[in-house]
Amino acid sequence: MFSIVITHILGLIIVEMVGPTLCFIPSRIPTQALPKPFVFNQSSSTSLETTTEMPLTKLHIGGLFPMTGTGGWLGGQGCQPAVEMALEDVNSRPDLLPGYYLSLTPNDSKCDSGLASALLYELVYEPPTKIMILGGCSIVCSTIAETAKMYNLVVFGYGSSSPALSNRSRFPTFFRTHPSATIHNPTRVKLFKEFKWQRIAIILEAEEVFVTTAKDLEYQCKKAGIEVLTRVTFLSDPSDAVKSLARQDARIIVGIFYGGEARKVMCEAYKQNLYGKQYVWFLLGWYEDNWYLPVKGLNCTKEEMLKVVQGHFTTEAIILNRDNKQTVAGITAQQWLDKYHQRLNQNLGTSVRPEGYQEAPLAYDAIWAVALALNATMHKLKKRGIAIESFNYENKLISQEIQNSLRDTFFLGVSGEVKFTDEGDRIALTQIEQMVNGNYNLLGYYDTQDDNLSWASAPQWLETGSPPKDRTVIVEQLKTVSLSFFVTLNAIAAIGIIWSIGLICFNFKFRKFRYIQMSQPLSNYIMLVGCIGCLSSVILFGLDSQKINARDFTKLCHSRAVLLSISFSLFFGAMFTKVWFAYRLSTQLEQSSKSKQKVENAQVVLMISLFCLIDVAILTSWFIKSPMIRITEKLEQEDVDPNDENIKVNFESLIVRRLERCDANLVWYCILFGYKGLLLLFGLFLAYETRSVKLKRLNDSRLVGMSIYNVVILCMITGPVSLVIVNHVDAHFAFITFTIIFCSG
Ligand SMILES: *[C@@H]1O[C@H](CO)[C@@H](O)[C@H](O)[C@H]1NC(C)=O
Ligand SMILES: *[C@@H]1O[C@H](CO)[C@@H](O)[C@H](O)[C@H]1NC(C)=O
Ligand SMILES: *[C@@H]1O[C@H](CO)[C@@H](O)[C@H](O)[C@H]1NC(C)=O
Ligand SMILES: *[C@@H]1O[C@H](CO)[C@@H](O)[C@H](O)[C@H]1NC(C)=O
Ligand SMILES: *[C@@H]1O[C@H](CO)[C@@H](O)[C@H](O)[C@H]1NC(C)=O
Ligand SMILES: *[C@@H]1O[C@H](CO)[C@@H](O)[C@H](O)[C@H]1NC(C)=O
Repeated sequence: MFSIVITHILGLIIVEMVGPTLCFIPSRIPTQALPKPFVFNQSSSTSLETTTEMPLTKLHIGGLFPMTGTGGWLGGQGCQPAVEMALEDVNSRPDLLPGYYLSLTPNDSKCDSGLASALLYELVYEPPTKIMILGGCSIVCSTIAETAKMYNLVVFGYGSSSPALSNRSRFPTFFRTHPSATIHNPTRVKLFKEFKWQRIAIILEAEEVFVTTAKDLEYQCKKAGIEVLTRVTFLSDPSDAVKSLARQDARIIVGIFYGGEARKVMCEAYKQNLYGKQYVWFLLGWYEDNWYLPVKGLNCTKEEMLKVVQGHFTTEAIILNRDNKQTVAGITAQQWLDKYHQRLNQNLGTSVRPEGYQEAPLAYDAIWAVALALNATMHKLKKRGIAIESFNYENKLISQEIQNSLRDTFFLGVSGEVKFTDEGDRIALTQIEQMVNGNYNLLGYYDTQDDNLSWASAPQWLETGSPPKDRTVIVEQLKTVSLSFFVTLNAIAAIGIIWSIGLICFNFKFRKFRYIQMSQPLSNYIMLVGCIGCLSSVILFGLDSQKINARDFTKLCHSRAVLLSISFSLFFGAMFTKVWFAYRLSTQLEQSSKSKQKVENAQVVLMISLFCLIDVAILTSWFIKSPMIRITEKLEQEDVDPNDENIKVNFESLIVRRLERCDANLVWYCILFGYKGLLLLFGLFLAYETRSVKLKRLNDSRLVGMSIYNVVILCMITGPVSLVIVNHVDAHFAFITFTIIFCSG
């Protein structure tokens, strides 16, 4: 057997000296598949190798496993047995790498980048030539991958999640079966969109992996149009960071930290009340199942911790195939796991799960990915007459071919479907879970590549049946006249209108009577029409943009002004003419005659028309110069009563009451009111002058005088008061209405 190995090595040396052109020496490429020995276990390989007829070419892989050490991820303990299993399985497959077998030299990297560079140096400068380096632990991978590119060496990672390793310009030859930590981000963004959250906050531990992940999350949120409210970082004490979240009204919070820190953060979140129905936390899914249980030194009780973790979401890359499909090794993932447990028991003698247990499927699949890629490369190179074992550290061609093959790799491994992005990152499904009463519920899976989110069960929302809002909801509410009030006052106005119509009929029916004739029937008619106009303006004052279209509101503003002004002019103008004639009669002592009455009627019409014309002139120039617009004003803020059925908000929210009104230029108000005021004052004066006049001709002049007092007093009160109580819509409306109705009475 030794002679075989020696000839073999000699052959290799000759090949390497003579060059790749001679590599197709037939004896070194077996034409048929042969059973191959296990290599890792030296004793078994010895026993098997003696039975092989053909010499098998060794392909050497350098393996760095973080086994012992003081810090970092020491997952080599769990991953090395999985790698051994994979090598055995790969080497026993006749259709894989026929004529070759994979050999791996393990070394302990201690998850130490300094030691890793020394080991890499040793691996490169000590024969045999390694075709690839297998590495775990992020800092070791970044150290060796940065150097290995100088030697055209492909570095393959099985336990390194740092997003920094995705930088192709820094690590052009790096591939990994461990998904990058950023794999959570597309899933999170997808869920934010699914639940219509537009604003999130991030809290993270100041670790390189987490910082890079958070930056990537921020970038992806920005791309999706989601606002990142804040990103707070903490070193070891998260209390200030959590307080900052509470201060900024964060509702949807993504937490990126290790399990120990997660416990502290959630305890602090309990203290800051950042939990319950209006908060959603997103945490990492790879903590132990009972990570939230309090430990010594934590100021929260178990009950408090259970409360605060209730309902949170986790995202996690799937690294153990869940379904019962046969993997590339011919067994299901579950069967593989059983075998792996057996081996662990054999090696360690206990059933304690070593560090790296979770990543073992990734390590197992790493060897398969390497073997399949080398198989493909080998066949491709053979077609071009190049042997894969002719690889040396100056040989860019073979290295490129291996990388191309790795990029094309696709198989079902025990960790799920294995494929890589152009950056060498593992493509994997992510799994979404939710904590409900202390247990994790599987919600669904997300496939980043196909943007395929499939739900297994619906998420549960505390108390409310829908996702909470991502911020304090501001509900705008228009303060309007209540409907019952509106109806009541309109009814009163309607009675007034009917009464006025009745009076018109009464006047008309008894127009022959002297008593009626003596009271200037024409003025009476006009007065009553004015009354009806005033009363019908009540309905206009009660309308608002909830009862009519908001676009028509300005029309409403204008018609209110027009109707009220003209009606007032008709109404008050008619009264005015009465006192005016009373005054004239009292001073001139004219006698009545039929012809006189005609003249008087004409004068009445002329006078009232003049008043109305002035109105029309003022209003027209007003509306042309500065039309009224609808404005809404913010009123006092009130917290919503969550039990208020009228307001369909199921979370804490703020309500902003708004008041709607017609906004008009004050100058025009003054002009209109000034003119009306003058008219009122003059009317008042005439009424006062004729207070004791008793005329046969104008039998109702005293009553008219009384009415004018009433109107003037009411108008003087209404003006200022209505300005003061404008915020109390109901009162305002009532006041205006009563004034109008009372005046008309
Ligand atoms: C190697 O394999 C033999 C039998 O196949 C077994 O008895 C032995 O324990 C193995 N050694 C190691 C180091 O796994
Ligand atoms: C190895 O490569 C050959 C040629 O490309 C292919 O036919 C064979 O199926 C491969 N082996 C495996 C296990 O995929
Ligand atoms: C690495 O492993 C090889 C083979 O097991 C051994 O000869 C070498 O001393 C190891 N190197 C270190 C630095 O441990
Ligand atoms: C990738 O690495 C290069 C240095 O090799 C650095 O300049 C660049 O900023 C890195 N890119 C990213 C996205 O980090
Ligand atoms: C626990 O609470 C006490 C008093 O409330 C405080 O003095 C102590 O520092 C807290 N410990 C931690 C670890 O927060
Ligand atoms: C999405 O994924 C689910 C389960 O992973 C699968 O059943 C379904 O066919 C996928 N849909 C698409 C469109 O890929």
